[in-house]
Amino acid sequence: MNTIHYGTLYGIGVGPGDPDLIPLKALKIIQRVALIFAASSTKNSHSQAVTIAAPHIPETSEVRLLPFPMTKNQIEKEACWQAHARTIIAELEKGRDVAFLTLGDSLTYATYGYVLKYVLALAPDAPVVTVPGITAYQAAAARINRPLVEGEESLLVLSGVEGGHRLRLLSETVDNVVFMKAYRNVGDITDALAEKHMLDNSVAVANCCMADEEVIEDIKTLKKRKPGYWTLILAKKNHNHEAH
Ligand SMILES: C[S@@+](CC[C@H](N)C(=O)[O-])C[C@H]1O[C@@H](n2cnc3c(N)ncnc32)[C@H](O)[C@@H]1O
Repeated sequence: MNTIHYGTLYGIGVGPGDPDLIPLKALKIIQRVALIFAASSTKNSHSQAVTIAAPHIPETSEVRLLPFPMTKNQIEKEACWQAHARTIIAELEKGRDVAFLTLGDSLTYATYGYVLKYVLALAPDAPVVTVPGITAYQAAAARINRPLVEGEESLLVLSGVEGGHRLRLLSETVDNVVFMKAYRNVGDITDALAEKHMLDNSVAVANCCMADEEVIEDIKTLKKRKPGYWTLILAKKNHNHEAH
C-alpha cells in the first residue's frame, strides 16, 4: 500500500492591511513555504492579502492566485471551491507545504473557509494548520481607541450585503454591532441603526491600516457618498435612550 506523505496546508490571516500586523507565527510560515495561494476575483487577478504580505514573501516563492467568480449561483461557487481544493491537494500530495493567505482573520467571512471544507473532505489525512489573523473590526476598534465589548455586553457581527435587515431581526438584546461589507447597501444599514438607537454611537472605518484610511464619525453622510468595499461600521447601542 502506498502511503501519501502529505505536505501541510497553512491557512493564514494576514491582518487588515498593515504588514506589521501579521502574527509572528504566520510570518515565519510565509517566509518558509515555497508556494503561496490566495483568492482573487476573476475580474482583476488581484489579491489584497498578497499585497499586504508582499514585504515578507521571499522572491523565490511562487504566488498562485485562485480566481473566484463573483456569482450568487451556489452550484458554480461549490464547483469552484472544490476545484481549488483539488489544486491545493495536488501540491500537498507532492509533499509540499503550502500557505493560503486571507485578509484579516482566516476564518471570518473568508474564502479560505469554503476551500478548507473541501480539503478536509477530499484529503482527510492531509495536515491543516489554521493561523488566526487580526480581523478588520479589531483593527478598526483599535484605530478609534474604542472597546469592542466590555463587562456583560454582547457583540453581533453582521454582513451588510443585504443592508440592515438582520439588525432589525436580531438587535433586541445586542449592545454592540459590527457591520462588515458595509458598502453597497450602506443607506439601509444607517436607517436600521437609527431605528435601533445606534446611529449616534456608530463610526465607520474605511481602508483601515491602509494608505487611504478614513474614519467617518458621522455615518449619515454615507447615504450620499457610498464608501468603497473595504468599509465597516462599529455600532454601539445608546442605552440612555431606554431610560426616557
Ligand atoms: C470578505 S470580508 C473579509 C473579512 C476579513 N477576513 C477579516 O477578518 O476582517 C470583507 C469585508 O471586511 C471588511 N474589511 C476588511 N478589511 C478592511 C479594512 N482594512 N478596513 C475596513 N474594512 C475592512 C470590509 O467590511 C469588507 O467589506
